[in-house]
Amino acid sequence: MSDEFNQIAKFEDPGLPEHVHRKTDTDPKAADLAERQVAILFILSALGTVLAIYAYIFIKDDVFFFIPIMGDTNAHQLFLGLGMAISLLFIGLGLVHWAKMLMPDTEVIAKRHEFRSPDEDRADFHQTIKEQAAAAGLGRRSLIKRTLGLALGFSALTPLVLLRDLGPLPGKDLEKTSWKRGTRLVTDPGDRPIRPEDLEIGAVAQVLPELEPGSTRHLSDIAKDAVLLIRLRPSEFQLDAERLSWTYDGIIAFSKICSHMGCAVALYEQQTKHLLCPCHQSTFDVTRAAKVIFGPSARPLPQLSITVDADGYLVAQNPFNEPVGPSYWERPS
Ligand code: FES
Repeated sequence: MSDEFNQIAKFEDPGLPEHVHRKTDTDPKAADLAERQVAILFILSALGTVLAIYAYIFIKDDVFFFIPIMGDTNAHQLFLGLGMAISLLFIGLGLVHWAKMLMPDTEVIAKRHEFRSPDEDRADFHQTIKEQAAAAGLGRRSLIKRTLGLALGFSALTPLVLLRDLGPLPGKDLEKTSWKRGTRLVTDPGDRPIRPEDLEIGAVAQVLPELEPGSTRHLSDIAKDAVLLIRLRPSEFQLDAERLSWTYDGIIAFSKICSHMGCAVALYEQQTKHLLCPCHQSTFDVTRAAKVIFGPSARPLPQLSITVDADGYLVAQNPFNEPVGPSYWERPS
C-alpha cells in the first residue's frame, strides 16, 4: 500500500461508500500494461503529426481524388487535416488513459462551513430594510410608489424601440442585382467599359454594371453588384457546355460577394487559379465554376454569363441566375 492509500484512510468519512482501488494500483503487471497502452497512444499521436507535416510539404494542393459522399477531394487538405486530427485525438486519449489508470487515485474530503448567514445577521438586515423604507416614506407615499413602477416599466421598453435602428428587413432586395441582359461591364473605379483585349491572361479586375443615364450608384448597389473578372486560357476551364458558354474568350465573371457570410472575395492566386475569401478562408476554384474546395462556404460563387456587344465591349448575357451573397438569404425562414 502506498502513502496515498494511507492518506485516503486518514480522510475517510464513515458516510461514504468504501473506495474501490483500481487494478493498476494493486497489480504491477496491470500498471505496466496501462503504461504501454499510454505509450502506444502517444506514438500514434506522433505519427499523426508526421502525416500532417508530410502532407503539408510533399502533397501538392492540386491533387484531387474521388471519395464517395465527399466527392472530389483535395488530397493536400485532406491528409493535412487528418494528420492534425489524429495527432490531437491520440494525445488527448493518451492523457485521459494515463490519468484514469496511473495517476494518483486519491479521495480527499474537505469540510466546508455553512454558507447561510447567522440568524442575528439576517434579522438585522430585514430590520434595516424596513427602517429605511419607512424613513423614505414608501409606505405612505403610494403615488410615488406607483409612478416609480411606471417609470421602471417604461424604461424597459427603450431597448425595444431601439430595435428600429436595425432598419427595414431586406425582403427580396438582396435577391436581385443591377445586372441585366446587355448591361456593360465597367471598371471600378473609373466606370470605363471594358473590351476583352483589356485583360491579359492571368489578370483579374473588379467591375460593376454600367449606370443607366441619369442614375446614381449607391453604396448598397456596389455591395451587391461587384463582380470579379478573371482571364484564363480557354483550355484551362473544366466547365460543362452551359457554363463554358457563359465565359468569353477565356474571361469568366463571378460575384465578388462571398457565399459564406458576404465578405468581399479579394484574393486571387494566379498559379493555382483559386479565389480566396480573407474572412474565413473559403477557397473557390476558378477553373471549375468557383467550386468550393476549402472553407466554410456551402456553395460556389454565382457566375455571371458574359459576352460582347456590337461595339466589342463586354456585357452581361443575362442577370445572375441565383441570388448573390450568403446562402442564408435564400432560406425560406
Ligand atoms: S465570409 Fe467568406 S469565408 Fe466567411
